[in-house]
Amino acid sequence: MVCLNVNTIRSLGKDGLFMPQAETFFRDIIADGVAIVLEREGRVLGYSVAVPEGRRHPAFLVVRFRHRVGLLFGTALDPEVRRNGWQTWLIDVRLRAFMNCGYSEVQATVAPFNLPSLINLVDNSFHIAGLNTPFGGHLRFIVCHDLKYREQNTMHQSPVVDLELSGCLSRHQELLADGYRGIKVLRGATVTIRYAKFDHLETWDREKTNA
Ligand SMILES: CC(C)(COP(=O)(O)OP(=O)(O)OC[C@H]1O[C@@H](n2cnc3c(N)ncnc32)[C@H](O)[C@@H]1OP(=O)(O)O)[C@@H](O)C(=O)NCCC(=O)NCCS
Repeated sequence: MVCLNVNTIRSLGKDGLFMPQAETFFRDIIADGVAIVLEREGRVLGYSVAVPEGRRHPAFLVVRFRHRVGLLFGTALDPEVRRNGWQTWLIDVRLRAFMNCGYSEVQATVAPFNLPSLINLVDNSFHIAGLNTPFGGHLRFIVCHDLKYREQNTMHQSPVVDLELSGCLSRHQELLADGYRGIKVLRGATVTIRYAKFDHLETWDREKTNA
């Protein structure tokens, strides 16, 4: 059992693009969901949180009929333990927990230029589905992982658009509004996002519009 020292875990985000969280954030999360804490010999080296979507923590995207949605609310690691795959491990643990409890979808947000976090989420089958400001002025990609369509990367995708991730995100916003999903982060001299459309999402969008 680890006693959460709120001041310590808040300080872990300070070197990245992570938005510093207020103490009430952690209190609310722990009341409704879980905070996973990495610690070594009594020293906290990181944390990660997850919470079911609900009144206090609304979903970032429209919730489909009968879908139960889990939310990932951030991870921060001490710089000393980064580059060891810990965020990927923490994403996987939380996805499996939601899946084992019968959830159909997991949503999260990520700052567009927070490359380690964006890469870790998209490499773990999260798709970029929106770009907006869920936290009062902080622009975020909204990402979602459809637990019912785990094979979606191999499903028919068309058309595909590769778009450089630059300071101006308006073209990304347009593609997302047009129903595209960001499915890959291509790393090179510049970072590019690959967008595609999916047949099953188009069907769902039509049903939603007709409902
Ligand atoms: C986000 C965070 C948890 C990721 O830590 P991590 O699990 O150690 O992730 P890594 O540093 O290994 O980076 C993940 C991937 O991004 C790549 N990457 C990191 N910085 C990059 C950059 N500037 N350009 C291109 N790729 C980059 C890494 O090479 C790695 O890819 P690889 O596995 O193919 O080598 C950590 O950076 C952190 O605590 N940041 C501050 C808090 C924060 O921003 N949290 C996220 C908000 S929810």
